[in-house]
Amino acid sequence: MTSPADQASLDQWYPIGAKFDLSIGCTSDRLLSTDLVVTCTSERVVSVQDSSGRALPMLERFGLIWTSLGTPPAGLFLLPEADEPDRRVVGCGSVLLRASGLRIIENFLDMAHFPFVHTDVLGAEPYTEVRHYDAEIRRNDDEVWATNCQFYQPQAAASAKDGIVTDYAYRVMTPFATVLYKTCPNAADRQDVICLFVQPMDEDRCRAHPIMFIIDDESSDAELVQFQQMIFLQDRIILENQRPVLLPLGPRAEMPTRADACSSAYRRWLKEKGVTFGALVGA
Ligand SMILES: [Fe+2]
Repeated sequence: MTSPADQASLDQWYPIGAKFDLSIGCTSDRLLSTDLVVTCTSERVVSVQDSSGRALPMLERFGLIWTSLGTPPAGLFLLPEADEPDRRVVGCGSVLLRASGLRIIENFLDMAHFPFVHTDVLGAEPYTEVRHYDAEIRRNDDEVWATNCQFYQPQAAASAKDGIVTDYAYRVMTPFATVLYKTCPNAADRQDVICLFVQPMDEDRCRAHPIMFIIDDESSDAELVQFQQMIFLQDRIILENQRPVLLPLGPRAEMPTRADACSSAYRRWLKEKGVTFGALVGA
């Protein structure tokens, strides 16, 4: 499924891979239905070009190489926790998904699926109720936030020993980049930070780049990655089977319920921006 990208989507930064995973030489990649050529040496990424040979802007952050097909902001969104020296930075690889990038972000914002999709890990019956929380578009920052979210979780993190009521806050910085702040089982006054950065290759095909900045002295890297990948693979089954494939943003799109307050704010924000790549706007 290929259609031209809207200007708002073109003007964002997108990750195209971890610095050390990109192959040496010229490799092809894809972003917003456009073919890219990425040229790397063993030391660094030399250039990212579109198929006409135009050099694209490039930056490096969170161990990932980012590029843009349009006119992006001067730098990426701020994430100060990423620079705290005692946090573990856990890159969870990149996952290819046959799904709309907007659907992937919306699924990440949805707590209602925890007991049914991540059973006995991020949720469990009969604790299926999504308690009231606050969702808003923050105009000054141009971000979507959901705060005061709480959910009972049998195993909130790789290191969690018992079920706890986990506090969550969600933040959407760009249409295809989101972060979750959640109760840290190992540090009462701090929060684990879990990012999901999506590289929309086509409207219905993406590469997701999850990365975590967490406080955990106990678990091994392998355990942390395994935990996150288990969660992500459970989501993948749901995401690849969602219908319609594209995120409905048209006038007849389904009316969200109270539990979907964050999703509703996200969709409103996308519509205001004119984001259509990965969206179904006519229905
Ligand atoms: Fe999930």
